[in-house]
Amino acid sequence: MTVAIPTLKLNQGPTIPQIGLGTYHGEVPDLAKSQAIVESAIAAGYRHIDTAAGYGTEPAVGAAVRASGLPREQFYITTKINNRDHVRDFRAAHDKSLADLGLDYIDLYLIHWPQPKTDRYVDVWRAFIQFQQEGTAKAIGVSNFWVEHLERLINETGVVPAINQIEYHPYWQQKALRQWGEAHGIITEAWSPLGSGHRPLSALAPLVAIADKYGKSVHQVTLRWQLQLGIVTIPRADQTPHQIANLQIFDFELTPEEIEAINGLHDPAYPAMSPLDIDL
Ligand SMILES: NC(=O)c1ccc[n+]([C@@H]2O[C@H](COP(=O)([O-])OP(=O)(O)OC[C@H]3O[C@@H](n4cnc5c(N)ncnc54)[C@H](OP(=O)(O)O)[C@@H]3O)[C@@H](O)[C@H]2O)c1
Repeated sequence: MTVAIPTLKLNQGPTIPQIGLGTYHGEVPDLAKSQAIVESAIAAGYRHIDTAAGYGTEPAVGAAVRASGLPREQFYITTKINNRDHVRDFRAAHDKSLADLGLDYIDLYLIHWPQPKTDRYVDVWRAFIQFQQEGTAKAIGVSNFWVEHLERLINETGVVPAINQIEYHPYWQQKALRQWGEAHGIITEAWSPLGSGHRPLSALAPLVAIADKYGKSVHQVTLRWQLQLGIVTIPRADQTPHQIANLQIFDFELTPEEIEAINGLHDPAYPAMSPLDIDL
């Protein structure tokens, strides 16, 4: 199926499809199952897939891309360097991701976590700049970076990340970080855009009221809200009906008041993950 998915232009030149498929399938993924999930998503119209060395799903993503028979250029593949590779050989990590994907370039290569305790992220970024110059990473960015980490990258290398992939859903909205990114040309990408199911979106009455008005689900309204904020979003959906539903978000538009109502659902007490908690 072909679905017209909007794109955003990155500060480094290329564009990114605004919605993709998340592929974190647990600590020990079943690769045949992961491949089948990605194949189902490709059939539903997804061309943008988010994976990471740390998820173990790179081989399944690459296999699904090849099995589609579609040209490589039609896909947008994001992967991320593993946290423990901050203290290892960056190029070996990059080469392993390419080999596991079975691809000769990555569309978007991200530093998964800054790991300020290890304090190697500027060195990793310098290697990423090199990979981009060599053409094996079309765009480079980061994930889970705070303003202080972004400022260091920019001040010490002069290269602004294209993307900062961060936790962003109705219960946990990093609005100030998103707006800082916007002011500096960095697009925010939402991970766990549906809250990963930790707390039901259906418990949020304003979201339910908006969903009812448009005849959409709370999940679809949440994704639509992210699109209208100018965010890239990567919902994980293992079930085909969910994959299909998550692409049916281009036929309605939230009003500014509805966007504000959802912006108001942020819960400062939500137990979000912090970059300071992540070790190798
Ligand atoms: N950079 C990072 O540090 C980081 C951290 C976490 C996640 N991520 C990325 O972000 C992706 C998404 O986050 P996530 O996997 O935590 O979870 P999520 O996308 O927030 O939520 C996934 C859950 O929502 C359900 N769902 C999806 N669409 C639905 C729909 N239309 N109706 C009802 N339920 C629906 C899924 O069900 P089914 O699976 O049963 O369809 C699944 O249980 C990850 O897979 C990964 O690629 C990145």
